Amino acid sequence: MLSKELYPMIFKRKSFHTFRNWKTKLSYSEEYRISDDEYADILRFFENSDRLYPEIRVAMRIADNKETSCARGQEKVLLFYSEEKDNYLMNIGYICEQLDLYLALRNIGALWFGLNIARMPDYKGLKYVIMIAVCKVPEDSFRKDVYKAKRKTAEEIWHGDQINGISERVRFAPSACNTQPWIIENRDDTFDVYRYRSPIRKWVRPVDGVIHFNHIDIGIFLCFLELCLDQEGYTYKRKLFIDDKNEEMNLVARYENISA
Ligand SMILES: Cc1cc2nc3c(=O)[nH]c(=O)nc-3n(C[C@H](O)[C@H](O)[C@H](O)COP(=O)(O)O)c2cc1C
Repeated sequence: MLSKELYPMIFKRKSFHTFRNWKTKLSYSEEYRISDDEYADILRFFENSDRLYPEIRVAMRIADNKETSCARGQEKVLLFYSEEKDNYLMNIGYICEQLDLYLALRNIGALWFGLNIARMPDYKGLKYVIMIAVCKVPEDSFRKDVYKAKRKTAEEIWHGDQINGISERVRFAPSACNTQPWIIENRDDTFDVYRYRSPIRKWVRPVDGVIHFNHIDIGIFLCFLELCLDQEGYTYKRKLFIDDKNEEMNLVARYENISA
């Protein structure tokens, strides 16, 4: 079960597209620093996080900004690496979303950053997947009203009966370019989760890149879904499916025997 302390962070987290104080234009890192102890704590959290596939090797590295093309005023970047096995992107999404929420708990602002163009070498024999830029920020700069966040409606992403405390909240999961590539079908006591391939907008290039991120997004969504289910006291059995096709609807997970 995911750590219960993460659930309230669903409402607090947001993407810090810039880490600059809008009045002074200076990076928040001029005012606040993430201490060495906090970095050690972040690494420990990553290492102890829940995984969809415990057998897939993953690693995190704390790096200087100059290794990347990310220039949003962050203090540092967290780089994530993985073995390339079936569903490894979904696995990284699931793990790193726990970290994204944990950072909010510690008042560390975060930005998932997929659009890096710098060459990223392998680490410990693992392939670079994605990064999260981080910076300590004032607590009042986090999200105040999640219901104002731009998201699809519950009706758009949820087929079948909606569930109180879940259908309305799970939709706040973040995704690359806010694509929200997910659909849930509720059939009696079973939820089927699909990675939904929306019609690709022509200006989004390369198309493969978008799909790459959508696989990460689905892992993020499963993290949100499980946090909501746990919070509402539901138990369930999770079954994962290899997501290696690119149909309009790709079944990625089934939650069975859901009961309160
Ligand atoms: C996998 C992934 C990659 C992302 N890459 C970028 C990026 O390169 N640049 C950026 O500004 N935002 C990036 N984002 C942030 C999304 O745009 C953001 O999560 C989405 O618009 C929802 O907004 P919110 O996070 O504030 O709720 C990324 C998000 C995810 C999940």
